[in-house]
Amino acid sequence: MKVAVVGATGLVGTVMLKVLEERNFPLTELIPVASEKSVGKEITFKGKKFPIVSMDTAIGMRPDIALFSAGGNTSLEHAPRFKEAGTTVIDNSSAWRMDPAIKLIVPEVNAHELSIDNKIIANPNCSTIQMVVVLKPLHDKYKIKRVVVSTYQSVTGTGVKAVEQLMNERKGIDGPKAYPYEIDLNVLPHIDVFMDNGYTKEEMKMVKETNKIMSDDSIKVTATTVRIPVMGGHSESVNIEFENDFDLAEVRSILEKSPGIIVVDDVANLKYPMPKDAHEKDEVFVGRIRRDESAPKALNLWIVADNLRKGAATNAVQIAEYLIQKELV
Ligand SMILES: NC(=O)c1ccc[n+]([C@@H]2O[C@H](COP(=O)([O-])OP(=O)(O)OC[C@H]3O[C@@H](n4cnc5c(N)ncnc54)[C@H](OP(=O)(O)O)[C@@H]3O)[C@@H](O)[C@H]2O)c1
Repeated sequence: MKVAVVGATGLVGTVMLKVLEERNFPLTELIPVASEKSVGKEITFKGKKFPIVSMDTAIGMRPDIALFSAGGNTSLEHAPRFKEAGTTVIDNSSAWRMDPAIKLIVPEVNAHELSIDNKIIANPNCSTIQMVVVLKPLHDKYKIKRVVVSTYQSVTGTGVKAVEQLMNERKGIDGPKAYPYEIDLNVLPHIDVFMDNGYTKEEMKMVKETNKIMSDDSIKVTATTVRIPVMGGHSESVNIEFENDFDLAEVRSILEKSPGIIVVDDVANLKYPMPKDAHEKDEVFVGRIRRDESAPKALNLWIVADNLRKGAATNAVQIAEYLIQKELV
């Protein structure tokens, strides 16, 4: 099992290597790939040093699986080349997600859609992944009509440059900027580019990707995505309107039994999910579970997950594990 990690020096790539190591992923050969400027540098995996190779070298080594997190353009250009070489690509960028021929997978929700023919598989947007893990079991039970979500997203979601911007601002250093405004002590209601309808691309990703992953275009979603000066993970305030009425204790019990979810909801003892606690965890944390008293059959939730883990690396590695387990690779 030869595995290429494309974007191995980036924020997601670094976590990808950590997740592969922690889960004792059954790889026999690791092929770390990054841009030309990093070729020849070394990364450490399981205590051993591995040289970073170029895209062409990696393709020539014909990996079984390539885990891509090197931006959309890199993926559009090179994923088909890996596919030609017989590699199954799992891609973290948004390049392939809405392509009707490409599966968009969150293992807890729709891994069953995968077949041996899927040679490029898309990993959804980080804010969508953590939301659908929670929506799916509730949709199965009560049928969701509409979701209103506002996000509070970590700077780690923008990559290395954004983390540097936040840290530089804290130290009073004038450095490269990932955002159009200061991020420290600030809140930016703007993630990705603005579109003609007044939403951002990130917001529309949450709408379209949710419908695709849940295989249900009848679920209406409206999103406001917001960047905050936080590191550990993304948080989401989610309001869900159901077709059928629900019992709050049953909602809690369904979530507690669902794979990949940890319920942290004990307000009497001030227990609720926070990015500091979700940081470096693979699960999705849910709390503040309460009835929306302004509407019938509506529920409010607070959902937190480490965007570099379940929102990116862990989800991709879980897809790879599923492919191996079902002998689809
Ligand atoms: N951050 C998140 O929470 C998150 C979540 C889901 C998906 N994603 C997606 O994952 C991707 C990477 O995000 P990130 O946050 O890890 O970004 P990042 O920290 O900026 O890292 C980018 C990585 O891509 C490599 N790269 C850039 N151009 C390349 C090229 N032409 N050929 C080969 N490698 C190249 C870089 O290598 P060098 O070091 O050599 O430049 C680096 O390893 C993006 O598509 C992003 O949208 C990110």
